[in-house]
Amino acid sequence: MLTIALPKGRVLRAVAPLLARAGADAQVLLADDRSLVREMPQAGLRFLLLKPDDVPTYVDYGAADLGVCGRDVLLERPTDLYQPLDLGIGRCRMIVAGVVGRAAPVGVPRVATKYPRCAADYFARRGVQAEIVHVQGSVELAPLVGLSDLIVDLVETGATLAQNGLEEREEVARISSVLVANRAAYKLRQDRVGPFIEALRPPRPPESPGDPGARAGAGA
Ligand code: PRP
Repeated sequence: MLTIALPKGRVLRAVAPLLARAGADAQVLLADDRSLVREMPQAGLRFLLLKPDDVPTYVDYGAADLGVCGRDVLLERPTDLYQPLDLGIGRCRMIVAGVVGRAAPVGVPRVATKYPRCAADYFARRGVQAEIVHVQGSVELAPLVGLSDLIVDLVETGATLAQNGLEEREEVARISSVLVANRAAYKLRQDRVGPFIEALRPPRPPESPGDPGARAGAGA
């Protein structure tokens, strides 16, 4: 059995069709029940459904061979895992946002975020002193009730910002979901891990003969 750690929620819905290419049963993955282990013995696959932040931990300790993980999670908590493939799903951006029309505060801004390390690094790189307030979710609320001046959070469609009267000010990072691999499993189970990764790899666009630029663009 190859064991793969998956984040529950939005990314699971996006990754299920990709995993079907590697032999997984997408219906079993997306079944709306509380079971946290989804086994597919015929395909030799077992999936663990986790909180997104926990995926690197399960893979790092070898409880899973592979995992699907947002770059936001890896930026916030750097690990020693292999990252053999960007899956091109779960695309969003980490941004700084504030209340529409409200000027930057005088003095040290207070910044609410689920990503205290990323936020602190970002403001430090720009030479801006900031006070970071760690919250677990519903981050957009913080500037509306005076907890913070700004937020650092993810934006995908922009609907949550708009519905809460916030606007983007700066981009911190571009985010997507990547495949992560336990280092030992990647080496010792290459016969299983290698083909699984290849099945998930997006097909290369065909190169037109005589087009010297075609190769440079492939895989970008
Ligand atoms: C995420 C993120 C934003 C929202 C952005 O929150 O933290 O709040 O999605 O998406 P949008 O740009 O498409 O509106 P999530 O749904 O994970 O919930 P949370 O607030 O509890 O973290």
